[in-house]
Amino acid sequence: METETPDQPDDTEAAPEVLAEAAVAAEPDAEDPDEAEGAEDAGPATAEEAVAAAIAVAPGRLAIGVDIGGSGIKAAAVNLDTGQLVSTRHRVPTPQPSAPAAVIDATAKIVRSIAKEIAAGPEVAVGIGYPGVVIDGATKTAANMDHGWLDFDADAAFERVLKRPVHLVNDADAAGVAEMRFGAGVGRMGTVFTVTLGTGFGSALFYNGQLIPNLELGHMEIRGRDAERRSSAAARVKRSLSWKAWAMDLDEHMLAIEKLFSPKLFIIGGGVSKRSENFIPRLTVRADVVPAKLLNSAGIVGAAMASDEREHQPG
Ligand code: BGC
Repeated sequence: METETPDQPDDTEAAPEVLAEAAVAAEPDAEDPDEAEGAEDAGPATAEEAVAAAIAVAPGRLAIGVDIGGSGIKAAAVNLDTGQLVSTRHRVPTPQPSAPAAVIDATAKIVRSIAKEIAAGPEVAVGIGYPGVVIDGATKTAANMDHGWLDFDADAAFERVLKRPVHLVNDADAAGVAEMRFGAGVGRMGTVFTVTLGTGFGSALFYNGQLIPNLELGHMEIRGRDAERRSSAAARVKRSLSWKAWAMDLDEHMLAIEKLFSPKLFIIGGGVSKRSENFIPRLTVRADVVPAKLLNSAGIVGAAMASDEREHQPG
């Protein structure tokens, strides 16, 4: 018989992130489902290495990526040609309440720190992944965010404060685009789903490498409720579930998606993908399931790519 020790909710331990400036080095958030420890691309270890890495980037191929999550805002400068982080990785807790003004202010602080660290001029653009539907730079839903984001002209509001070109996209779309370009989805044709598990259940659909944006399958109804309430990484922690019990809930959600879309491949990302051996072998979907390669840097890398609309399609 299979035995398993249920994990404690705090096993989404804080990542040993490299935080360049004490001012932004907020307490790591043990509740952050995106923050499981692992060997992702944490970026250069020191500010000196970051400057060297940033100088090596071809002109116009550097952007700052920001991943806004329900509990943390993470950001770094990214080489758009390689998908590598070229600044240290910064993180602050998402302000609570997560009203637009507070989130924009917190984002501006880390973007300023990054720009200073790598001596980025004002032409270096910022791409932002937001955890909700984003159409033409306006945020339309706010499942895990303050309702001030509903129908909010976010591109313009961020640009006023950041004083740089800014473009927002859905966070799961951003992470998916990065995985398809630089990670587990490279060269994968047909229907591919990338799933980003954090506070919510982010989904992105690709057909022959082309993204169909704003899919929102975290909110399909399973057992009479929003599916992500059982299948997100936060749901496992919140309900103190064993990996096995949570894998069954995730599996039910993925089977429902498979029934509708018949993907060839699921790529599972978010901090929890660092523990993929605890749940991927338990999934019963017909499609191949692999962990994301960029782990939870995908959101930052894909957001940086979104700063330039042309980058935001891997195909
Ligand atoms: C949101 C999605 C988002 C996902 C992951 C969901 O609650 O509706 O837009 O991609 O969480 O953050």
